[in-house]
This record gives sequence, C-alpha cells and structure tokens, in this order.
Amino acid sequence: MREWTREERYQVLESPEQIRELHEHISRSPWRQTYHVQPVTGLSSDPNGFAYHKGVWHLFYQWCPWGAVHGLKYWYHVTSPDLVTWKNEGIGLAPDTYYDNRGTHSGSAISDGEDLYFFYTGNHRDEDWTRTPYTCAAKLSADGRPEKLEKPLFGPRDDYSEHQRDPKIVWNDEKKRYYIFIGAQTLDKKGTSQIYSSETLLKGWTFEGQLHVVGYEDFGGMWECPYIVNISGKDLLIFSPQYTKLPGRSESTNHNVYFIGTMDYDTLTFTPDGPYRHLDYGFDFYAAQGAANVGDPDKGILISWIGLPDNHYSSAEEDWEGSMTLPRELHIRDGQLYQVPVAGVRDLRLEELPAEGRLPLAGEMEIGCDGNDLTLRLFTDADGKGGFLFFYDAARNVCTVSKKGLVNRFNEAVGEELEMPLRTPLKKLNIFIDHSSVEIFVNDGEETFTSHVYPTDQEHGYVIEGKADVRLWNYSASVKDDFVV
Ligand code: FRU
Repeated sequence: MREWTREERYQVLESPEQIRELHEHISRSPWRQTYHVQPVTGLSSDPNGFAYHKGVWHLFYQWCPWGAVHGLKYWYHVTSPDLVTWKNEGIGLAPDTYYDNRGTHSGSAISDGEDLYFFYTGNHRDEDWTRTPYTCAAKLSADGRPEKLEKPLFGPRDDYSEHQRDPKIVWNDEKKRYYIFIGAQTLDKKGTSQIYSSETLLKGWTFEGQLHVVGYEDFGGMWECPYIVNISGKDLLIFSPQYTKLPGRSESTNHNVYFIGTMDYDTLTFTPDGPYRHLDYGFDFYAAQGAANVGDPDKGILISWIGLPDNHYSSAEEDWEGSMTLPRELHIRDGQLYQVPVAGVRDLRLEELPAEGRLPLAGEMEIGCDGNDLTLRLFTDADGKGGFLFFYDAARNVCTVSKKGLVNRFNEAVGEELEMPLRTPLKKLNIFIDHSSVEIFVNDGEETFTSHVYPTDQEHGYVIEGKADVRLWNYSASVKDDFVV
C-alpha cells in the first residue's frame, strides 16, 4: 500500500481540477457502489450533519480528497428527497480557518424549522502538531452551503485530554434547552462524554459536566461520535468506544455500541436498562449517526460508515475507500432495538432473479428459514468454492461469519471471523449487496451484520446448505457517481 507523507495527506484542495483525474480513474473501478453513498474521490468515513430540513435529507461525510488515507478532512455534502436517491452537492465545510486548519472533523445538525444548523469540531494544530479541538457552528445559507460562524462556540477544557470532539446537538423539551454531547477522553485516558447546554443554538453555551453511564465508568479509552435520541419514550445512547478490545470482537479496538435506558439531564446520568449491545456485529461498522428532525417519536433514522479507523481496504489500491451503510429505521419495541433498511430501498428492485446460485452485483437476497442449522456462502467462485461464510448454529443460537474464503483479504490482523449471537432462532435474512458491501438484517432487524467485500469477477456465486426459501432481486442505481466538488 502507498505510503503518505504528512504534507501529502494534509494538502489543501485549491481547485477541483486537482482531483478530476482521480475521480475518472476510480469511477472505472468494479467496486464502486450504486445505491450507497461513497466518496467522490479519496476516502469517506463518519457520517456528519444528518438531518431533515424543509423536505430534504441532508447528509455529509468526513472526506479526504487525496486517496485512501486519513488526512485533511472536509465535510462532503449529499442530499436526498427520500433517503434512497442521493445527489452529490459538493464540499459542505472546508478546513479554511485558523480554528479548523487541520480538518473540519465530525459533528451533527439540527433544524429549527426555519434554518439548519451544524455543529462540528474544528481540528486546529500548531506548527509542532499540538492539537486544539474547537466546537464550531455553521448555518445553511441561501445558496445551500453551510456558512461558518466566525468564532467557535467554545474551546477544549484543560481537565480532559486533547480528545474532545464530535458534538451531537439535541433539544430537550422538558428543560427547554439545547444540549451538546462531546466525545471525550479523561486525563487518565477513559472514554466519556462532556455535556454543554444553552437556551439558544449559537450562543450561551455552558459546561454542565460529564455524562455518567451507570456501570460504565471505565469502558474504552475514548467515546467517539456520541448520539442520543428518544424513541417511543426510551432514550437510545450510541457511541463508538475505542482503544479497547471487547468480548467476542476478536482483535478489533474500535466498536459501535448502544444502550437503551433513561437520560436524566439534571444529574447528567444515563441509566441503562441492560448491558451495552453492539449496534452491528459486522467487520466494518463505525461512527453511526442518527438523523435529526425525523418527525416521528416512534422512529429513528441511522446511517453509518462501512469501515473502521486504523484499517484499510482492497479499494485502497485504486486510491479510494469507504462507503455509507443504507439508512436504517430504528424502532424500540418491548425494550429491544430493531433496525430495518428504510422502506424506499425496496423500490430499487428491478426484477426478481432465478435463485440459481448467482448473486446480482447490486441487489437483495431474502431467505426464509426454519430455525435449524444453515450454511450460506456468498461470493463463491464459479465452482461454489470459497466466499464469505455465514453459518447459523441452531443449538447455540449463534451465527458465525468468516471472510477468510474471499480472494481479496483485508484487515486480517483484527480478525476475519466474528460471531453474532441471536435473540430468537433464525427465521429470516435480508441481505443487501452492492459492489463492495454486504449488509445482513436478521429476523426483521433483531441484529445486523455489515461488511465490505471486494469480490473478483469470478466471485459472484452463492451456495446454501439447509432448508431455505431464497428470493433474489437486482437493484437499479440510486446514487449518481458524478464529479461535483
Ligand atoms: C471517528 C473520528 C472522529 C473525528 C473524525 C475525524 O472516525 O475519529 O472522532 O471527528 O473521525 O475524521
């Protein structure tokens, strides 16, 4: 893989012409997605600024224009009328001020009905590379681009480490105040979140204190990308703990977890109803963010980066990597989280295909099964060998997924085999395949498993052992891969 110098990674984009050829080069890749948001060039990572405002879904992603590398980060803007069809809008936020000179890092959005506001981390670094993270704001202007406030809302606190970022803005109707949750690390290197509040969006922010998640005072070394939402009367807290290994997650030190419980804004205490759970059991799922202004108290909408920090993917050889997941609907029923792809995704079905052992390049597979053992291999070669193995062990009620059989192996060091324990016996799988991703939804959203795959042109078969009713559809493209910068 290519080695990058700091100068190369942190180069400022002066003109779109600098990356036009890069776009032309990567758009010929067989792994470019067709119904998932992906980087226009270079690398995409966290979803940012996700909100519904005046009939439009706005979404941004952390973007490094230059290649498959984490360097100078921009917010790249995409919009959608329906969460399925996405349009490239160009750069949303560029690192062009003192406060964000080395990156416009992650953050969130909120609409007050009239205006759409953005909260992000200005990643400032001095000459000696000392980092100062600022919490900054912007507002969507008449020309459809976020316009920055001149000054940050607040700077970092010196009673925490330099890791203070990823503001999540939320309105609390009882307190009649806005709150910002910041992903943070204490001086003794424990993950947490800082909470600020204000009556108004663009001024008056005061530090309230540190979030306490009861029973999780020592859980990971940094909580990136916090997110909180109330669904059907329950609070759902999501974050990405890092610098720690968790049981059942092999060697990975990057995770995306959630708690269902109750948030008390007086005591800044989140009391979980049960232990943490993984938002997704796949190899590549991180920094998930829910949308603001969904407009339905019984529903959340969530999207995530298909990828992990400190990892790289086969498409890096082609100078790009990363993708967003499909947006998912979140529901909480009987104290349990359910995640299903937004309904409109099914409108992409072009035709039903014969279930004869060949996968579409982009499409959906639905499998009905009877709760007994099941072996499914996706992306096998023409002889039905190799592939991405999904095995359901009915006796243990656990699925084991292995990517060791793929020709293009990646991130072997963090583990190529993972388990997904189920809550109820396996009855149904909905599998969404795009050119370089696979998303598996189990039992109508009880659990999910998301991963990248980089099949060769020989690896488009599938094999099933066990009782299964299989249906297959191919999908039309809904994300235009055009060069808008
Ligand atoms: C998570 C993260 C965030 C940060 C951003 C920078 O992947 O590390 O904490 O804001 O990426 O791109």
